[in-house]
Amino acid sequence: MDSGETYWADRAALEWQVELGVSDAVQDKPVDRYALDAAKPKPKAPVTPPDGPPPSVAPEEVDAVAEARRLAAGAIDLAGLATAMQGFEHCELKRGARSFVFSDGQAAARVMIVGEAPGRDEDRAGKPFVGRAGQLLDRMLEAIDVGRAHGDATRAVYITNVLPWRPPSNRTPDKAEIAMMLPFLERHVALAAPDILVLMGNTPCQALLGRTGITRMRGEWVEVLGKPCLPMFHPAYLLRNPIAKREAWADLLALKARLRG
Ligand code: URA
Repeated sequence: MDSGETYWADRAALEWQVELGVSDAVQDKPVDRYALDAAKPKPKAPVTPPDGPPPSVAPEEVDAVAEARRLAAGAIDLAGLATAMQGFEHCELKRGARSFVFSDGQAAARVMIVGEAPGRDEDRAGKPFVGRAGQLLDRMLEAIDVGRAHGDATRAVYITNVLPWRPPSNRTPDKAEIAMMLPFLERHVALAAPDILVLMGNTPCQALLGRTGITRMRGEWVEVLGKPCLPMFHPAYLLRNPIAKREAWADLLALKARLRG
């Protein structure tokens, strides 16, 4: 092939991958995983004694939720919780993510904001809500004089997500992923001990309230884990639907009033 043909062949291959959902180059050079598999030594067939009992082949079932509960319960502070989550091996998202994204803001804050999961920018930065949606969130909070870096601790917020790893192509987390990470989120709330929870969009509502339908749920205070909790539109939704900013503003004012009260 001459260089012109190579260019078009490479370009077609790249477009094909983008169509399949590839959104990031993880490494500079491609890895041929088929070749890696072929090079692996083949496992030897088990040797069974001629008249012994048949080998037990049932794979050990792992209860990922129970394991998450066990690890979460053992965490006595936020650093311990982050370590326990990083050691949790049952969420497949961990294998595709670049970073473990735990939290940002001030852990002693009165308001704890729970989002969905890291996106591309958060996965790169290792911090929640730093992309376009995060910048809008910061402006929204600033409008009611609160923020993750607010100098007055009583006006600070603490921010986390239901999932600490980015789902591929930013897809919505599925129910199994949410369920297995929920024990960590509940422990996170217990250790941070905020006065108020704010749930951004459907995923944290599914996790903590067991239901979705943010258009109906937003703006209605509910109680969860013994705390007043306000579901709101996710800032990414507001970027796509600026008309909904009016409702978001009403919710921010409700949050401001609750903080004063
Ligand atoms: N959306 C989220 O829900 N969380 C983030 O951290 C970023 C975008």
